[in-house]
Amino acid sequence: MTTTTTGTRSTAKGATGTAHTRVEGRDKVTGAARYAGEIPFADLAHGWLVVSTVARGRIRSIDTAPVLAQPGVLAVLHHENAPRVETDYVGMLGVPDPTCAVFQHDRVPHLGWPVALVVAETSEQAREAAETLVVHYEQESHDVEFSSARPDAYPADGYMPAVAEKGDLEAELVASDAIVDEEYTTPEEHHGMMEPHAATALWDGGRLEVVDSNQGATWVVGELAKMFSLDPASVRVRSEHVGGGFGSKGVRAHQVAAVMAATVLHRPVRVVMTRRQMFSLTGYRSPTAQRVRLGADADGRLRALEHRSLNLTSTVHEFIESAAGPARVMYDADAHHTANRVVRLDVPTPTYMRAPGEAPGSFALESALDELAEKCGLDPIELRLRNEPERGPVSGLPFSSRNLPACFREGARRFGWADRDPRPGLRREGRWLLGTGTAAASFGAGAGPSTAVATAEPDGTFTVRIAAADIGTGARTALTLIAADALEVSPDRVRVRIGDSDFGPAMIAGGSMGTRSWGWAVMTAATELRGRLALGADIPPEGITVRSDTTAAVGALARKERHSFGAQFAEVAVDVTTGEVRVRRMLGIFAAGRIVNPLTARSQLIGGMIWGISMALHEEAIRDRATGGLYGADLAGYHVATHADVPFVEADWVDDPDPDDPVGIKGIGEIGIVGAAAAVANAVWHATGVRHRNLPIRPDRVLQALPREPHA
Ligand code: MOS
Repeated sequence: MTTTTTGTRSTAKGATGTAHTRVEGRDKVTGAARYAGEIPFADLAHGWLVVSTVARGRIRSIDTAPVLAQPGVLAVLHHENAPRVETDYVGMLGVPDPTCAVFQHDRVPHLGWPVALVVAETSEQAREAAETLVVHYEQESHDVEFSSARPDAYPADGYMPAVAEKGDLEAELVASDAIVDEEYTTPEEHHGMMEPHAATALWDGGRLEVVDSNQGATWVVGELAKMFSLDPASVRVRSEHVGGGFGSKGVRAHQVAAVMAATVLHRPVRVVMTRRQMFSLTGYRSPTAQRVRLGADADGRLRALEHRSLNLTSTVHEFIESAAGPARVMYDADAHHTANRVVRLDVPTPTYMRAPGEAPGSFALESALDELAEKCGLDPIELRLRNEPERGPVSGLPFSSRNLPACFREGARRFGWADRDPRPGLRREGRWLLGTGTAAASFGAGAGPSTAVATAEPDGTFTVRIAAADIGTGARTALTLIAADALEVSPDRVRVRIGDSDFGPAMIAGGSMGTRSWGWAVMTAATELRGRLALGADIPPEGITVRSDTTAAVGALARKERHSFGAQFAEVAVDVTTGEVRVRRMLGIFAAGRIVNPLTARSQLIGGMIWGISMALHEEAIRDRATGGLYGADLAGYHVATHADVPFVEADWVDDPDPDDPVGIKGIGEIGIVGAAAAVANAVWHATGVRHRNLPIRPDRVLQALPREPHA
């Protein structure tokens, strides 16, 4: 059978752009799909992490003897006996980060820091023993207090320059007709993905194998190889099904501890984190304190824009939540000043979390724009349209495309924005005050180098291999559709295998760049394979295989401002008796490149918007000053939006194919959350007449701010 029969060709056109259920959906709902903590291994031992109960200090001693005598216990690893690792390596993200180099010293940098790993024959034995392990600390006083007034805050770069300034800010503010000068805060927020971090490590004939749940097998190979001083070719990482990541599933303490234990014990060792451990060991979004100053002419044109953001980080690693970043893309002004600053505290290291920078930054900036619209007496959409920049406000580069106005026009039409009375606090339905709000969204559209392998099998099917990660996004399905179209066959003849570092280096599922980067490599390999088959070669038993590598093509992309854009709309009802805010409906219209699979893309965007509701109204991890730990570090204490909180949410898009991408993709993983919380907060103002600049908008905050109801 050849692969280019006319019948197949005619039915196979255009798999991309039409809705497809997930190719692994049946495996997932029947339980056939196995997650990292469930995959069986012969001779498996189980490691249980023991974490510090003090927020700062030194380990004086660890009483290992009683624990080693407990049933099934095989080893207790700690700073005095664990294998040494390289702590100053530079990871895939370009910065040295010793956060996960555990058991290397006696310092305790925060509460919940790993101080030991107890390994036993069963998970239950390991847990039992770990809970009885006595660790003696020399405790020191700690400092976990985050506030905008910290004198020890300093500007720091992260993945963008800390400071960007042009023009005379004070002069432009003085010359402005309308001014906004406010502080906005967002709390510590957690990823809270369903599947906990879990890894099994083993040595197989001199090769390190790790079965894991991560956002990029190539990434984890690279970091483990550097940490353990191994040739990357002698490390294999597999991660087939992943129950959510959101930025938190890179290299973490569990993989490192599992590799150490497998090395010491010469047998496979699994380490699974508890939910409570995840709250201190897998990163989180730092709280932010942001000051925004805007100055505009009477017609709404911005003369001055200042956005300064402060976040916290640990004493171990400097992580920057670049919340001042969106202002460098969204709006220009004669004077334009942005800065990201950080303060180091005795807390766990924060990390990337869905739309890092953009999610909290858009809350402040897009709230401030709404406040400016009110002061200028302008419709908030009109204000934004009047400030559409021609070029990147800071970079001066042209935009690859910028379809924000189209998103607002389509969104306004579908949401019914034209009928809106802009005055706040006027609409009432029983005890509910009603309001609507809007906000803009943007997120970077990039690509990373990837390799893919496409094989034409003798039975007429195709196998594509790529070290992609499907963290719930539908990436595997999208890649199947892209390959099918490139091969001009129907998707059911294409099998896409992912999550194995042996398939060659590939981009991570991060920065909204996963499917875009992998799609490029898959398209390239599949297109070349189709070309070879068109020459009419017989397919040998081992098949015909083509490899692609997009390093050169991705590297040749011209420097431009490359972003997705979006317009968020929310309608809320505020209960004046309880202070409860209910979102009644939400609409997001996005310009986010070509949409490969409308079914899973809509789900991605809606998921981000729901997280925006959650961010606006519910999520908040509260650190206890006395202990330095979190209150309620679990999914009971950390409230996320659930079914009853989520109304009718609609996501759609305007036509926006990226001309510089072979498939037209820009990436949709993160933009759904951007601006969503601001749209809700702006709607709460429209309902009540009260601005909420501190998230979440809790009932107590709403009640406290509402004018007292006259007695009936
Ligand atoms: Mo994302 S925060 O780049 O996984």
